[in-house]
Amino acid sequence: MKKILPIKNLREEIKIPGDKSISHRAVMLASLADTPVEIENFLAGADCLSTISCMKKMGVDIQIGEKILVTGNGLFGLREPSDILDAGNSGTTLRLLLGLTAPQNFLVTFTGDSSLRQRPMARVIKPLTEMGASIFGRNDNKNLPITVLKPEKKLRGITYKMPVASAQVKSAIILAALYAENPTTIIEPYPSRNHTEKMLQAFDANIQTVGNEIKIFPAEKLTAPEKIIVPGDISSAAYWLVLATILKNSCVIIKNVGINETRTGIIDILKKMGAQIEILNAQESGGELFADLKVTSSKLRGVEFGGEMIPRLIDEIPALAVAAAFAEGDTIINDVGELRVKETDRLAAIVEEFNKISPNSFEATENSLKIHGGNKKIFAECKTFADHRMAMSLSIFGAAADGVAIDDSDCVKISYPNFFEFLG
Ligand code: S3P
Repeated sequence: MKKILPIKNLREEIKIPGDKSISHRAVMLASLADTPVEIENFLAGADCLSTISCMKKMGVDIQIGEKILVTGNGLFGLREPSDILDAGNSGTTLRLLLGLTAPQNFLVTFTGDSSLRQRPMARVIKPLTEMGASIFGRNDNKNLPITVLKPEKKLRGITYKMPVASAQVKSAIILAALYAENPTTIIEPYPSRNHTEKMLQAFDANIQTVGNEIKIFPAEKLTAPEKIIVPGDISSAAYWLVLATILKNSCVIIKNVGINETRTGIIDILKKMGAQIEILNAQESGGELFADLKVTSSKLRGVEFGGEMIPRLIDEIPALAVAAAFAEGDTIINDVGELRVKETDRLAAIVEEFNKISPNSFEATENSLKIHGGNKKIFAECKTFADHRMAMSLSIFGAAADGVAIDDSDCVKISYPNFFEFLG
């Protein structure tokens, strides 16, 4: 059990760790180049270390120091691993690597931890199979362990209409499409995070986005930049954006946060609720925008949203639910069924655990979440279900309320190893 004490205010300049999604992609794409790539501000969290370990087992030289140095063997230089690849807790590692290994001339078997072994993989295996890949999972959901066989022939480019907006599924198809015999088109219901597309453009690949449609042309080689600078993770910044807003007398500056517009839904919704967030010193690197965020205490009101906003803040919904509990009136979040298949069923976890801190405040249907703001908050002992985002959201909830004890604090190392720096 880790106990988080209530705090009165937050007045800090905060440096958050590198973006998790971009760190994964930086290692994967650098591994496909034939010149060395230095990665700065890489997130050395457990998920991204799983990606490094998988790439190393496929023959890529990766040196881990203050910076990461990746020396790949070219687009066609991956080698058959002599052992199973373990993606740990990381859906991004597994789904993107299913796409990357589908066209390779070798066999690979993946496994992962008990959470990842329950998460649905059919959503990735289906389009890859349409492209001609040979991938076998454990049951109808195609759960782990999963084996990818050498395809019978070169993959074919397809046109694929995605049933859900998922950057992991989209990126898996994009990576496979680099090796196909003809172009591939992906149509998303709403735009999801586009880091794979932006980074591939920085590696000189031919990939074009028009509205919700992405077209990928087969590549012969990737031309890598010498250096990739990973911006700070807005999903990690979200905890401080929420906490500084709901605590009185607070003002926080969060340095170098990625503000790619496919990720800034948290800023848009907090502002709609009445938060004061300023974007300062915006800059660009490798196609990704980053800036300092200044956030000041504010009174919040409940709002309703869903649809295309959801992919822009999917990982921040537990933190937003905390903000909503301190707002005046109800907040309704629609179209959030995807939360049921994250590291844990986050809708069920929010209802079960957040109601212990603010009783009778959180209700969910299969696909929506309703939060009654302004109810009384009490000290509670809560479960994280080994989910990093549940652990961090419960921690800021307790810090702004009457304290909390969480059963597992170690899981924050998945995305934010030094998260507890500002919380007692
Ligand atoms: C991610 C995509 C999202 C997100 C996950 C990271 C990525 O998942 O929830 O934490 O890096 O592509 P989905 O693609 O399943 O929506």
